[in-house]
Amino acid sequence: MSVTADNATQKTPEVAAEAGRRRTFAVISHPDAGKSTLTEALALHAAAITSAGAVHGKGDRRGVTSDWMEMEQARGISITSAALRIDYADCVLNLLDTPGHADFSEDTYRVLSAVDCAIMLLDSAKGLEPQTLKLFDVCRARRMPVITFVNKWDRPGREPLELLDEIEQRIGLRPTPLNWPVGIAGDFRGLVDRHAGTYTKFHRTPGGATKAVEEVLDPEAAAGVEEAAWTQASEEIELLEALGADFDEASFRAGESSPVLFGAALPNFGISQLLEVLVRLAPAPAPQPDAKGEPRPITAPFSGQVFKMQANMDKAHRDRMAFVRVSSGRFDRGMVLTHAATGRPFATKYTQAVFGSERSTIDTAYPGDVIALINAQALSVGDTLYDGPKVEFPPIPSFAPEHFAVARAVDAGRYKQFQRGISQLDSEGVVQVLTSDVRGEQAPVLAAVGPLQFDVVRHRMEHEFRAPIELAHLDYSVARRTDAASAPVLHGLSGGEVLTRRSDGALLMLVHNKWRLRVIERDHPGLLLEPLLAGGVVDGD
Ligand code: G4P
Repeated sequence: MSVTADNATQKTPEVAAEAGRRRTFAVISHPDAGKSTLTEALALHAAAITSAGAVHGKGDRRGVTSDWMEMEQARGISITSAALRIDYADCVLNLLDTPGHADFSEDTYRVLSAVDCAIMLLDSAKGLEPQTLKLFDVCRARRMPVITFVNKWDRPGREPLELLDEIEQRIGLRPTPLNWPVGIAGDFRGLVDRHAGTYTKFHRTPGGATKAVEEVLDPEAAAGVEEAAWTQASEEIELLEALGADFDEASFRAGESSPVLFGAALPNFGISQLLEVLVRLAPAPAPQPDAKGEPRPITAPFSGQVFKMQANMDKAHRDRMAFVRVSSGRFDRGMVLTHAATGRPFATKYTQAVFGSERSTIDTAYPGDVIALINAQALSVGDTLYDGPKVEFPPIPSFAPEHFAVARAVDAGRYKQFQRGISQLDSEGVVQVLTSDVRGEQAPVLAAVGPLQFDVVRHRMEHEFRAPIELAHLDYSVARRTDAASAPVLHGLSGGEVLTRRSDGALLMLVHNKWRLRVIERDHPGLLLEPLLAGGVVDGD
């Protein structure tokens, strides 16, 4: 037996136990539903930070900083992303942050490929909103377990039963409430634990900056304190029981039913209940299928996949960071791994855990953890790193782009910097880069899901690569995958053109609009014009 294999065998029980303690999840929500507030509240409850506000730079504290900060602040959106580790009740909760703006859905999609579970966060007054629906579709395509948290119960909102009905009717997810609010939205008194039957009454603390005071009462005492609100909640709970809306583990794991919790992140109500549910019900890491479709055991030698690249998180360093989700084995800092795409060794001396604004060096990591590799110029989104015999995970599918623009260097003398910048942004997945012989390397076509991605490219090309660009928008809105046989015919048609995606060599036909596409499909039924896939989410019309 080789030294590596021997080490791996010795580590097996440890890796299995550590993986079993991991819960890796993300929050999906529409902007303003309270994702940042919830993140802070979770960290606060787990005592990872001393007072709410340290993670996302709210208040006078600053969180993750980057060159984009000014841009983000001006627009009120969050582009940078933090992976947050929360130690709670013998578990390690890894919360992966997702950008809030719809234009960065592709980034969010990649983050979702790296988690085992999602929290669907709803505003009690708004219910399911467009961005939540879009992200939920991705979860459904991946059959990901989803926990629903109905937020802002301290503010006037909708009836709880009506919200459950909306979830079931609109997205076909069977809601199974684990707790039930006492007091209507806007008059939040506390929560009944449906399983234990106990009542937790909340008392506000000023500004929500510290944990809310929780008082646990038995049903009799609760009835005495809350009177009519208690009676109403009890009646609703009886109704739920009659409807059989009870938690069911198998359908939750299959992404068919969703445990529902009510709460209010700002005053920290219902947060410990959510943490308990993550620990008790959220799945631990499972074997991830490799490119051949074979599940790689958690205890196999180290393997992980890059799900996100980020540049310049720290102005002082000007570095490039690859976020890797560990799939199997134990990671030890200093290990020399293999980069599956090139077969080259990759040294991991500089590895960090990223926690809000703080970076700390990490020495070991297990399945479900996220490690940040610094100076990761050689890596691209979707790449696999491994130890021992070769393994490669399938690429992370891209969203179908809907916005297209030709990029050119403003100053022809800075063409080299232009080339370097475009290649780097391509491998980070900031935009998709398309080329063709007709257009030439000097004028690549940038393809984006949302137009804000172009702003990021423009900003970074100017400030980071010192190669300002001009972008000429193209009048296309639909992309379809085609093949070498169909390409020459398609290329000659008006209202479209064929380009090659640099990252994977895929041939894409760009068309002005879906009506034009229908005409082409009708006139040339033999040609390949395949909708682009995003993890099973078909870009249909
Ligand atoms: P996001 O990351 O999903 O975009 O939302 P964020 O946490 O920034 O919250 C959006 C707004 O909703 C914030 O108010 C926040 O304070 C408020 N909020 C979040 N959770 C709750 C809750 O449980 N109850 C109440 N009442 N409000 C909540 P803001 O005024 O836009 O910002 P800020 O000035 O308070 O930071």
